[in-house]
Amino acid sequence: MAFYIWHKEIILERTFVMVKPDGVQRGLAGNVIARFEAKGFKLVGLKLVSVSRELAEQHYGVHKERPFFGSLVEFIISAPVVAMVWEGKGAIASARKLIGATNPLESAPGTIRGDFGVDIGRNLIHGSDAEETAKSEIALWFSEDELASWEPCSTPWLYE
Ligand code: RTP
Ligand code: MG
Repeated sequence: MAFYIWHKEIILERTFVMVKPDGVQRGLAGNVIARFEAKGFKLVGLKLVSVSRELAEQHYGVHKERPFFGSLVEFIISAPVVAMVWEGKGAIASARKLIGATNPLESAPGTIRGDFGVDIGRNLIHGSDAEETAKSEIALWFSEDELASWEPCSTPWLYE
C-alpha cells in the first residue's frame, strides 16, 4: 500500500499488535495505544477479544512443537486481549522495536516489555514479526469491514 505526499511515494505497512491478558489485566492497554499513537502510527483496527482455543492455536501455530505451546495457548485464552492493527512507514519492524525483546528481563528500558515486564510468559504484548505474518495475522483476527479507512490530519506533519 502506498500514498503520495508532496509528490513523494510513501510505502505503508500494516502490522498486527495484541495486548495480551496480562497487559489488559494490569491496565496497560491504554499506555500501549498511547505509545503507538505518539510514535505516529495510524490505528486502523481495534477490539477487545475473548480468544477461543481454536484462534489461539491458529495464531501460535508456528510454535506448536515448542514445550511452551500448551501454556501459551492456555494463557492467551485465560482473559480478554486487545487486538489492533497499526499502519505506517516501517510499521512492522518499528512495532517490534517499541515492544522490545521477547524476554522482558532482556528488553531495553523504554520498550513496552522493558518498562513493564519481568517474566517471558507474561511479556504483555505481541507484534507481527514479518510482512507475511502481519498479513496472515491481520486476516486471522480482523474481517475487512473491521478495518477503517481514514486519513489522520497529522499525516503531512509526520511524513516529508
Ligand atoms: P510474540 O510472538 O508474542 O510477539 O513474541 P515474540 O515474537 O517476541 O516471541 P516468540 O518466539 O514468537 O514466542 C511467542 C511467545 O511465546 C512465549 N514464549 N515462552 N518459555 C519460553 O521459553 C517461551 N518462549 C516464548 C512468549 O510469551 C512469547 O511472546
Ligand atoms: Mg512471535
